[in-house]
Amino acid sequence: MSADAQKKAAAEAALAYVERGAVIGVGTGSTVNHFIDALADLRQDIAGAVSSSEASTERLRRHGIEVLDLNEVDRLPVYVDGADEANSLLQLIKGGGGALTREKIIAAVSQKFVCIADRSKRVRVLGKFPLPVEVIPMARSYVARELVKLGGRPELRQGFTTDNGNIILDVHGLEIAEPIQLERHINNITGVVTNGLFAVRPADVLLLGGPDGVETLQAR
Ligand code: 5RP
Repeated sequence: MSADAQKKAAAEAALAYVERGAVIGVGTGSTVNHFIDALADLRQDIAGAVSSSEASTERLRRHGIEVLDLNEVDRLPVYVDGADEANSLLQLIKGGGGALTREKIIAAVSQKFVCIADRSKRVRVLGKFPLPVEVIPMARSYVARELVKLGGRPELRQGFTTDNGNIILDVHGLEIAEPIQLERHINNITGVVTNGLFAVRPADVLLLGGPDGVETLQAR
C-alpha cells in the first residue's frame, strides 16, 4: 500500500468525525486534499467549511462546498488537518505546506482537532522534519540569528511566500525534547508570526493510515 493510499484511508476515516449541520474546519496538504474530495459527498449535510489556505479554499469551492470567514463562525466542533510529524502526545510539527499560521488559528478555535496522516509521520521525538517558522520579511536575519542560538540551522524556503505575505524559515537540526516550551519560546521572538509546533494545542485524535488499516490514537 503506497503512502498516498495510506493518507487516503486516514482521510476517509475522518469523515466519521464530521458533525452534521455544523461548519467543519479544513486544513491543507495532500492528505487533506483526499479529505476534501471525500467531504464532497457530504456537502448537503454540513453548514460549510472554514479553510486554512487559498489552495484548500479553491478545492472546497470546486466541489461546491461553501467556504466561510472564520470571524462569522461562532462554533467549530471539528477541525481536520494533516501533519509532518506526530509524537505519542499528539503534539505535531506542521507547516510543510506553509499554511501553519492559519492552521494554528483554526486549531485554536476548534473543539476537536482530528489529525490525519500516513504512518511514516509518527515519531518518538519531534524535530527530524525541519521546523517551519513564519516570519515578517524585514525580521528575517534577526530571527535567523535567534534560531541559531537555540541550536537550529534555519534555511529560507526559496521562492515561497505564505498566504499572509510572509517568508518561512525551515529550522533543521532541532531535537525537540520540550515541545510546549520551544513553541512558546520561538513565538516570543520579535518578528515571528508563528512556528509549526502544535504542542500547546495538540491534536485530540490522530488517524494514522498504515499498510494494515487505520489506527486511531486519542489524546491522553
Ligand atoms: C501544511 C501542513 C500539512 O498538513 C503537512 O505539511 C502535511 O502535508 P501532507 O498531507 O501533504 O503530507 O501542515 O502547512
